[in-house]
Amino acid sequence: MKKFLKRLLFPENIQFEKIPQNEFSIPGPSNIGVYFHIPFCLSLCPYCPYNKIKYDSNLVKPYLNALLKEIEQIARLGDFESISSIYFGGGTPTLMVEHFGDLLEHLSKFFKIEGDIFIETSPYDITEEKLRLLKKYGFSGISLGVQSFQDKFLRSIGRKYTSKEAYHSIELTKKYFDNINIDLMFALPNEMLSDWEFDLKEALRVGVEQITAYPLFTFPYSSVGKFKNIREVKVPNFLIRKKMFEMLYDYSVSSGYQPVSVWGFKKGEHHEYSSVTRGDYIGFGAGAGTKVPGWFYLNTFDVDHYIKKINQGNFAEVVKMDFTEKMDNLFWLYWRIYETRIPKEEFQIKFEKDKKVKFLVNLLKLFGMACDEGNYIQLTKRGMFYVHLLQNQFALNYIEKVWSRMLAESEPDKISLD
Ligand SMILES: C[S@@+](CC[C@H](N)C(=O)[O-])C[C@H]1O[C@@H](n2cnc3c(N)ncnc32)[C@H](O)[C@@H]1O
Ligand code: SF4
Repeated sequence: MKKFLKRLLFPENIQFEKIPQNEFSIPGPSNIGVYFHIPFCLSLCPYCPYNKIKYDSNLVKPYLNALLKEIEQIARLGDFESISSIYFGGGTPTLMVEHFGDLLEHLSKFFKIEGDIFIETSPYDITEEKLRLLKKYGFSGISLGVQSFQDKFLRSIGRKYTSKEAYHSIELTKKYFDNINIDLMFALPNEMLSDWEFDLKEALRVGVEQITAYPLFTFPYSSVGKFKNIREVKVPNFLIRKKMFEMLYDYSVSSGYQPVSVWGFKKGEHHEYSSVTRGDYIGFGAGAGTKVPGWFYLNTFDVDHYIKKINQGNFAEVVKMDFTEKMDNLFWLYWRIYETRIPKEEFQIKFEKDKKVKFLVNLLKLFGMACDEGNYIQLTKRGMFYVHLLQNQFALNYIEKVWSRMLAESEPDKISLD
């Protein structure tokens, strides 16, 4: 299964390689997304795989200055026309919200900003003042990492707020935003179907525009992952996970939400809340990725090293992966599957000569995982569940490999995905 997956996802022998100093370039795609990584959190959740460090107020200014310089550095390289969307991810980006006005103003000196501006945060960092600032700076959508509406689960996954505070943060956010996503996690240790049903019903009841639900990934390098090797963390088995997913699908659809990704369901006409990981994008900050035609780059994950590199006039990008046209097409297909629908015409153009990929898509249809729906090939409920599983494998096999190395070394020589 692992080998099959690898050949399917990465047909070529791929690896990240160290970028020799001053050999970094970016072709200037005319329309590009921007991602800002803000790696600060008030407390570190034991299951979390992301690049984050404990919040230290002394680091905020140096980090902000490095971001401002990095924007200038990158802007000088390319011939960019406009920015199609901006995403602030983390960490907990709202921990430095008071600086986002300056950051966006600086960005607008070099790029024409056209699309939505989205941000993610944790319920513990929501205040009326922060929401007011976000509105003032032009943010159009916000995601709250609620995870659960039950204190026993919030405690067990190490979240530092109560369900009461989570409800309060949603109500407060609703006063300022009409495009809110809430993240939930399921398949948590000792979680039963009835527990998940409760969280799901509450998420649908509080009346937000989008709900995104992730099954718990136990990355081996996270504290939970390490703990799992010592004493089994009892997570629900395959059948229960499947039922949980079916519940998510059925309850969301019958409440008027439509799938927008294998994890996410949306209601109403607002732009889908999403991070800028779908097309070409530039990432700023420690641990941010940049995807442009021909290459995928990663900035150093080490926050001090990031600040130092930028202050010395160097690029923060430390490793790169060559992206052939074939990989670019597969990357495109990956995101269309993630979004649960593939536009037939573009698929036909991109994979005209690729019999293997066409065969695989036909196989999906044969096994009832996808069906024709007008101009699209649409994933079915069954298909979405299996893509969930595939994502799980992808995360644990490949993201784990890259992120654990990037977290351990500020400039790894080579990361092979073999
Ligand atoms: C970067 S975090 C979001 C913002 C904020 N830091 C927070 O935790 O609320 C993005 C989302 O990923 C999900 N997530 C984090 N670690 C996960 C894991 N190990 N397995 C599954 N989902 C996870 C959570 O739902 C979280 O809200
Ligand atoms: S899950 Fe969110 S709040 Fe928790 S450590 Fe990770 S990024 Fe920070």
